[in-house]
Amino acid sequence: MANTRASSSSLDPLCSRFLSPSPISVYVLLLLLFSTVVVFFSHRQIAQVSHQPFVSELPPVLEDKHLWDSSHGYGYKQCIKPTHRYKPPQDVNRYLTVRNNGGLNQMRTGICDMVAVARIMNATLVIPELDKRSFWQDSSTFSDIFDENHFINALQGDIHIVRELPKELASLPRARKHFTSWASVSYYEEVSHLFKDYKVIHVPKSDSRLANNDLPIDIQRLRCRALYHALQFSAPIQDLGKKLVERLKSHGRYIALHLRYEKDMLSFTGCTYGLNDSEAEMLTALRENTKHWKLKKINSTEQRIGGFCPLTPKEVGIFLQALGYPPATYIYIAAGEMFGGDTYLSDLRSRFPNLVFKVLPSCAKLCLVQTMLPILPPIITLNFLQETLATAEELKKIVSHASQAAAIDYIISVESDVFVPSYTGNMARAVEGHRRYLDHRKTINPDRKGLVELFDKMENGELKESSTLSPLVTRMHKSRQGSPRKRYGSLPGMKGRNRLRTEESFYENPLPECICRN
Ligand SMILES: *[C@@H]1O[C@H](CO)[C@@H](O)[C@H](O)[C@H]1NC(C)=O
Ligand SMILES: *[C@@H]1O[C@H](CO)[C@@H](O)[C@H](O)[C@H]1NC(C)=O
Ligand SMILES: *[C@@H]1O[C@H](CO)[C@@H](O)[C@H](O)[C@H]1NC(C)=O
Repeated sequence: MANTRASSSSLDPLCSRFLSPSPISVYVLLLLLFSTVVVFFSHRQIAQVSHQPFVSELPPVLEDKHLWDSSHGYGYKQCIKPTHRYKPPQDVNRYLTVRNNGGLNQMRTGICDMVAVARIMNATLVIPELDKRSFWQDSSTFSDIFDENHFINALQGDIHIVRELPKELASLPRARKHFTSWASVSYYEEVSHLFKDYKVIHVPKSDSRLANNDLPIDIQRLRCRALYHALQFSAPIQDLGKKLVERLKSHGRYIALHLRYEKDMLSFTGCTYGLNDSEAEMLTALRENTKHWKLKKINSTEQRIGGFCPLTPKEVGIFLQALGYPPATYIYIAAGEMFGGDTYLSDLRSRFPNLVFKVLPSCAKLCLVQTMLPILPPIITLNFLQETLATAEELKKIVSHASQAAAIDYIISVESDVFVPSYTGNMARAVEGHRRYLDHRKTINPDRKGLVELFDKMENGELKESSTLSPLVTRMHKSRQGSPRKRYGSLPGMKGRNRLRTEESFYENPLPECICRN
């Protein structure tokens, strides 16, 4: 949905200055020098941070358990093998070409749906094209982001995949078909009649083209094999992701926070709580001027009370503290550029000083190091950047591509000890589903509606943070930590298309098809 990258910002002039080709190498050198100096000083600060006295009422072991433990799968296991009825793919001379749309995670699930669709239609899949035109403005190709060979080989027993259309077909007319949303097997059996007249069907959009429910078990399991096993990130992305995860884990356990406090997100949702008038007006103007955002008139207060706003950095801070996470906890911020820079982020950092960022995609390449410095705790960022600078080429390439930067966020979020999304969205859903698949790793889904009610009571002086908040918040989130449950069906009273639309996404919770009782 609103995955636009924040467009212009006050940082941009700086960017372009540092991005002009010749000074980069000089800049990298300066930076290295500078980071070495600061890292030297920072060792003392690391010591200070980790020795910060933390007052805890619970003995450490008990506290650890409820904060980090996810009971190792709760007696469930992955189940993705096909049934005995499953046959190898047929060798037929008919092809599906696909253009994916949306951001990284929408494309990932779209690709896996198209794998399933190719299977249903008995068609050979041509490696999909990625979205290069949408708001993501990313020129990455499939093989920049994914391991193409692995994708083809891992799905050998399911469908045929080719890199390109055979030459003799490339110039033939294709049937261009917008598949209907949340379609069933019988829909695809029907559209496969197009193959009577055409050798190739072209699909211009891949998001949500396949139903979440009521599909054969072998199709559902194929979706899981595709997403969790076949569709892996390319080696450079995996390597960098792994390195960053290791670096984070060297500090102990960490939370990955998908903090959707970005300009486009606030503008799109109409959430201006806590902002001053000129900021609120700017966000409203941005929404009114963005053509593909249909909803123009939004009452910010009602949005917030309804639980439809991303939590603010301050609210996230209060929330995590109330759950009992100690101030020294390392929190990786998986997100784009924060709205207001440090203005609002500081409300989170005052409670959790160990915030870790990657270099942000919206201000490409190394200029970010410069612009982020004043608002980052020197210890972590510089340790981080110093090492990532060691692979400057890799880093440069990745941070200048929104999808690749999002892939890094994805990896760090899936591998985190605890994942906390401050708002819903494709990324939050995909990460949550993947974590469920991986032994139900802990994902804490804030009850935004309930929390806002508590926060407002605090603001009115009806509730004290120190004494009463923590038990209330803890109780409110007991059953929102990613433990096993069956995927939700549609909201009550929904009919037709709305029923399909309101079902929980298959990829958010592939239980029962791909996660079974031991
Ligand atoms: C695909 O092949 C299977 C097995 O031969 C067949 O049962 C099915 O009807 C075919 N489906 C389509 C859409 O052609
Ligand atoms: C609103 O906030 C912005 C940035 O946080 C600041 O630059 C501006 O001066 C503020 N405006 C008013 C009227 O307070
Ligand atoms: C927005 O909704 C709130 C709560 O319903 C109401 O008090 C307020 O007047 C509304 N604001 C506008 C500008 O309509």
